[in-house]
Amino acid sequence: MSKLAGKVVFIPGGAGNVGEGIVRAFLKAGAIVAVPSRKAEKLEELRSYLGDIATTERFIPIVGEISRVDDAERIRDQILQQFGKLDAVIASLGGWWFGNKSITEVSITEWQQYLDSNLTSHFITARTFLPILREQKGASYTLIGGAAAEVPIPNVSLVSIPAAGQLMLAQVLIAENKNSAVRINEVIIHSWVATRASQEHSQPSWITSDDIGEFTAWLASDAASMVNGSVLRLYEKPTM
Ligand SMILES: NC(=O)c1ccc[n+]([C@@H]2O[C@H](COP(=O)([O-])OP(=O)(O)OC[C@H]3O[C@@H](n4cnc5c(N)ncnc54)[C@H](OP(=O)(O)O)[C@@H]3O)[C@@H](O)[C@H]2O)c1
Repeated sequence: MSKLAGKVVFIPGGAGNVGEGIVRAFLKAGAIVAVPSRKAEKLEELRSYLGDIATTERFIPIVGEISRVDDAERIRDQILQQFGKLDAVIASLGGWWFGNKSITEVSITEWQQYLDSNLTSHFITARTFLPILREQKGASYTLIGGAAAEVPIPNVSLVSIPAAGQLMLAQVLIAENKNSAVRINEVIIHSWVATRASQEHSQPSWITSDDIGEFTAWLASDAASMVNGSVLRLYEKPTM
């Protein structure tokens, strides 16, 4: 029997580079997988990248903007109406910034944009979906973050600062929910990730998006019931 059969899982950021591997792993493990994106075309592309596994009725693409409260609540209500429950959220939101300039050169518009995409999106997702997970036996909530949360890198401020905020958001959520049924964990990836987008220059030591998918699918399964309130760091793989 597949380890996540019958579980209803929501993967915001699932149409992104890392998200694709997460969606694939959860579908392979038998879950019902709902994936939002602001763009219908991205969901159609995701469906074609996933291949046969996405032809199942267990793949549920939803057009919507998870960083807007009204859209997030509409998506939550759609999932509850369709399936009557939610078992897990894996939030793989926010992306890299290629601005390559010092923090004093960053405009207010850029600052606001990256706070919204990389931090407020996580806040709205947690605010909207955690309350229904608290009612579900065996539920879990996993946030995906990057090394920039912990390592200051010059000229990457708009990734680092929201990422550090996201890590603290996770730790506050863990502290506030420690007596509830939902297991909350943060996975920080201290490696570049080999994805479809990076395949031409990926290195063998890089963690792949499928590795992250397999790890987070295990984390959401009953086999990981002892992993709760943890900040888990994944580093590059040995190459020999
Ligand atoms: N790629 C790497 O090498 C790497 C390495 C270490 C850690 N990570 C971490 O992995 C996570 C995902 O990164 P990624 O490379 O997969 O990024 P990505 O390809 O840019 O995907 C990011 C996802 O976030 C969503 N998103 C961004 N801004 C949003 C907004 N304002 N409102 C709603 N949704 C928004 C996008 O949704 P739409 O579908 O609507 O566009 C997209 O699906 C991040 O936490 C990152 O730090 C990545």
